[in-house]
Amino acid sequence: MRRMTSTSRELRTIGVVGLGTMGAGIAEVFARNGYAVIGVEQSDDSLDRGRQHIEHSTGRAVKRGKLSEGEQKELVDRIELTTDLEAVKACDFVIEAIIEQLPLKQDLFRRLDAIVGPDAILATNTSSLSVTEIGTATSRPGRVVGVHFFNPAPVQNLVEVIRTVVTEPDVLEDVAGLARSLGKTPVICGDKAGFIANALLFGYLNHAVSMYEGRYATREDIDAAMRFGCGYPMGPLALLDLIGLDTAYEILDTMYKQGRDRLHAPAPILKQMVTAGLLGRKAGRGFYTYE
Ligand code: CAA
Repeated sequence: MRRMTSTSRELRTIGVVGLGTMGAGIAEVFARNGYAVIGVEQSDDSLDRGRQHIEHSTGRAVKRGKLSEGEQKELVDRIELTTDLEAVKACDFVIEAIIEQLPLKQDLFRRLDAIVGPDAILATNTSSLSVTEIGTATSRPGRVVGVHFFNPAPVQNLVEVIRTVVTEPDVLEDVAGLARSLGKTPVICGDKAGFIANALLFGYLNHAVSMYEGRYATREDIDAAMRFGCGYPMGPLALLDLIGLDTAYEILDTMYKQGRDRLHAPAPILKQMVTAGLLGRKAGRGFYTYE
């Protein structure tokens, strides 16, 4: 089941901290590929939400005949869920997918640095924060790397591997090998807000929001234009609902502050929708309404 490359070190035990949409998806991807996973959340409620996310997602695969019930159980059993961060002590690789706020990420990395062994790799799934700044919270910035999955993590095959000016070459090789062992395609890029894909994608998404805000076209027509005219699997407003409007706002805001490109200045309605709790699919309502 597990495919390793000959050049990379085998990373066996995987820690995933934060089991929201992305973290739960990442934990599932590792477990699907035979890895033992320790999934950590802050509270029992959040842990429960993470467990439900994984059960729902793997349940879809069972319904579609892609996974048997026995395989689903084995997969779920490979993920140990806990609220105790110390449980990642023996992990070779720990990835965090907590909220996109630098001080919180730095605090977590400071704690992880004190818990895991000296060779362990610490990774962040951040979409736009500086991996370099996250790494400075540790005593091992050379072993800190960005490993950015895409939503939905079990489906999207890209993993961006972000190197900082101090990332050790063997860390990049190990992480690229790890991504390949998950059946993903790794691409390597520098530590600049948005990395490759979001830097290209979010100007387009923001422009679609401005069109909607200016009543230039309906949400359905904006989405239909890109689906049927350009072959995108989803229109931009439906995609924003999938990503989460709060996450999208944070990504745009960070990119705008770093690059000052008007393309990335968040459309005002985005902030208003976030403030009103219209966060997209996860809240049941965003540009569209969900059951
Ligand atoms: N979790 C797990 N599996 C899922 C899933 C989910 N949330 N959503 C869909 N799937 C699986 C389905 O089970 C199905 O699997 P099989 O083919 O093995 O049966 C497959 O994906 C296709 O699903 P559907 O037929 O239900 O739906 P679809 O064909 O419309 O595809 C989609 C849904 C995969 C989401 C597709 O519309 C798509 O690729 N959309 C674009 C997504 C995208 O651009 N993501 C990147 C966002 S940017 C980002 O993530 C970066 C960031 O930092 C925010």
